[in-house]
Amino acid sequence: MSLSVVILAAGRGKRMKSRTPKVLHEVLGRPMLQHVIDAVMPLKPSGIITVVGNGAEEVKQRFSTEGISFVLQKQLLGTGNAVAVARRHIGRGAVLVLNGDGPLITTKTLRILVRNHLKRGNILSFLSFYDESLAGYGRVIRDKAGRVSAIAEDRHVSSADRKQFTELNGGVYLMEAEALQYLGRIRKNRRSGEYYLTDIVSIIARSGKGLDAYECPAEDILGVNSRHDLSVVSGIMRKRINREWMNRGVTFIDPDTTVVHSMVSLGMDTIVYPNTYLEGSTRIGKGCVIYPGSRVLNSLVGDGVMVKDNSLIEDSRVGDGASIGPCAHLRPQSVIGRRAKIGNFVEVKKSSIGEGAKASHLTYLGDAMVGADVNIGAGTITCNYDGTNKYRTVIEPGVFIGSDTQLVAPVKIGRGAYVAAGATVTRDVPPGALAISRVPQKNLDDWVQRKNSATAGRKGRK
Ligand code: UD1
Ligand code: CA
Repeated sequence: MSLSVVILAAGRGKRMKSRTPKVLHEVLGRPMLQHVIDAVMPLKPSGIITVVGNGAEEVKQRFSTEGISFVLQKQLLGTGNAVAVARRHIGRGAVLVLNGDGPLITTKTLRILVRNHLKRGNILSFLSFYDESLAGYGRVIRDKAGRVSAIAEDRHVSSADRKQFTELNGGVYLMEAEALQYLGRIRKNRRSGEYYLTDIVSIIARSGKGLDAYECPAEDILGVNSRHDLSVVSGIMRKRINREWMNRGVTFIDPDTTVVHSMVSLGMDTIVYPNTYLEGSTRIGKGCVIYPGSRVLNSLVGDGVMVKDNSLIEDSRVGDGASIGPCAHLRPQSVIGRRAKIGNFVEVKKSSIGEGAKASHLTYLGDAMVGADVNIGAGTITCNYDGTNKYRTVIEPGVFIGSDTQLVAPVKIGRGAYVAAGATVTRDVPPGALAISRVPQKNLDDWVQRKNSATAGRKGRK
């Protein structure tokens, strides 16, 4: 079956009270429109046309790389007009029409619609659902024989009809070219001045051509019109994603406070503690433990990694068996080797840390290359910035850096060298050497006693 997709996304989204076009608002790290595109992609459509209006430029820019095309609806004359505007760009074959603000639609539900549509040989099929608690959806009107005869918009329906007709329009339509021909017959609604796509239903019903509605879960249909809706929809998607990972063998100590974005992946037997955010394109390996309060963004985390409490990992890579945190910060382009340890209050930026290397406490490593099995003492700082430029620090394998050391870059510490505690290293250290830079210690004997008697003498003279 040749299928094209039309996504309606020209609406204003006034109730969002936002400068951002509605379909660009994010649900679990991805714009709503992206979720809709993700749901239709597996149907392998021949083309995806998005109808844009409000914020058209912003929407186009955001999706310029997605291989979808855009048509501009100059005036928001309603959903019927929006499809009519798109029609000129639609190829032959059937057209799937859906809303850009309904990010919970699933491929599974769309497949059911397609299957029923083909089986029945309809020219128009659409999704419907039941939920008494929802207002503002179109109502599906059926005749005594149960055949769909119309969709009536909620605001134009009497309260008696409201009681009788409880089946609601999901706003997802599958239309054959034959159905699209009826678009021109839709008349402007007298009360709202809009052309309602839903009016095509009664027109087709009168023509006697195949037409029906197919029920789907209400959850799949929920649209976002307000910030409250956005939170509800985000909550449902979070639950769906977390449930899926639990099915695949991931433990969530408290799934209600764990946020996993839709593109993230997690390995089997990984345990995720509460208040954790796994975002963007993050991939977490098998058998990891992510302790509470951590956020991992666009990062690759290997197998058996421990991320201890309150750590932040951004655009970085962490090797198998490494340990990060508590309270560590891996800034972009950090690469942590296997079994390496980045401990309490350690910040790493644009640095690579060798296999088995350790920086256990209170350290800043920026623009550094740290070899395997290096030990970085507490309070070590790479002084990588002179106020104008950034410089690199190279620490070769097996080096031992004593505590409270400053490494003034550019500088290189040779293989196996030692740097004594408290050093300010400004010159390269040859392999195997000990670098020490200290003022020799003096002990002033009996200094305290002498100070006290001097003070007592001054008081006595008063
Ligand atoms: C619409 C349906 C309603 C259905 C509901 C499901 C109509 C008349 N009503 O109502 O039966 O229950 O969807 O969610 O179709 N849009 C445009 N151009 C326009 C107007 C709207 O692109 O001129 C887009 C909007 O951006 C939105 C979608 O079409 O993505 C639906 O429009 P909206 O105004 O939200 O329709 P509803 O009142 O929700
Ligand atoms: Ca809507």
